[in-house]
Amino acid sequence: MGVGLRAERIKVIKGRVQVLAVDELEIASGEIWGIIGPNGAGKSTLLHVLSLLERPDEGTVYFDGRPVNWRRREIMELRRQLAVVFQEPLLLNTTVYQNVALGLRFRGIKGPEAGRRVQKWLEILGIAHLALRKPWELSGGEARRVSLARALVLEPQVLLLDEPFVALDTPTRAALLVELRRLLKGRGITALFVTHDFMELPLLADRVAVLCDGRIVETGRPRDIPWSSWGPYRGQTGEESPYPWPWPGVWTRDEGAK
Ligand SMILES: Nc1ncnc2c1ncn2[C@@H]1O[C@H](COP(=O)(O)OP(=O)(O)OP(=O)(O)O)[C@@H](O)[C@H]1O
Ligand SMILES: [Mg+2]
Repeated sequence: MGVGLRAERIKVIKGRVQVLAVDELEIASGEIWGIIGPNGAGKSTLLHVLSLLERPDEGTVYFDGRPVNWRRREIMELRRQLAVVFQEPLLLNTTVYQNVALGLRFRGIKGPEAGRRVQKWLEILGIAHLALRKPWELSGGEARRVSLARALVLEPQVLLLDEPFVALDTPTRAALLVELRRLLKGRGITALFVTHDFMELPLLADRVAVLCDGRIVETGRPRDIPWSSWGPYRGQTGEESPYPWPWPGVWTRDEGAK
């Protein structure tokens, strides 16, 4: 079963500006959260804090119910339980296969077991035929899939994804979202993903947090967020959100189904 995450009174200051001020965010074990908000809202910063990559200037992160003390040894230990997909796919200058296998090697999983796992995830993500390619021989969407495979192969307790589906064509993206949800729910993995795309939310998320100017301005089930007067976009344009909601054709899954 996955582990829960909690953030309490988090503040992050960058270049003298407060870029994140989250009073409370609780992600229960096995829950999937989507974070949406305009550019610069602090989404990646929040993801870095919850991934234990960036220590906040103030506040506490609870990992599996225990406050994180940010000592190096503890961080290393906790980070073994989580996997992150960054906003930019970071691939090493080696084959797709080796890129996916690398994280397993760091975690001491080698030999046939590693081979089986890598092959399985390459197949699930539809990139098995690219196993021997180098990163510069991949399209943008293929590179995205490789970075997803790198995270998923670890079969972590917690998965944090920063705009993981950007650059994927729409049919692939929809199929992958549904497949990913099935996978995460099947394994009880706790997950948080950042997106700019409203359509991704009902397909993958149990809960949504809307982030604006570093603050969470709305939380709820995807269908409960009042999109018609979506604060951040209205704030930027001075107008009602132009997005219809519920988005026609989006409700392909029975919300609440696990
Ligand atoms: N080193 C830095 N110094 C000053 N400000 C920074 C620094 N790094 C990031 N910021 C600011 O922090 C804020 C939050 O950045 P963050 O990357 O978390 O936003 P985001 O919501 O992920 O945006 P995007 O949708 O564009 O990815 C932004 O306003 C950004 O300009
Ligand atoms: Mg970002």
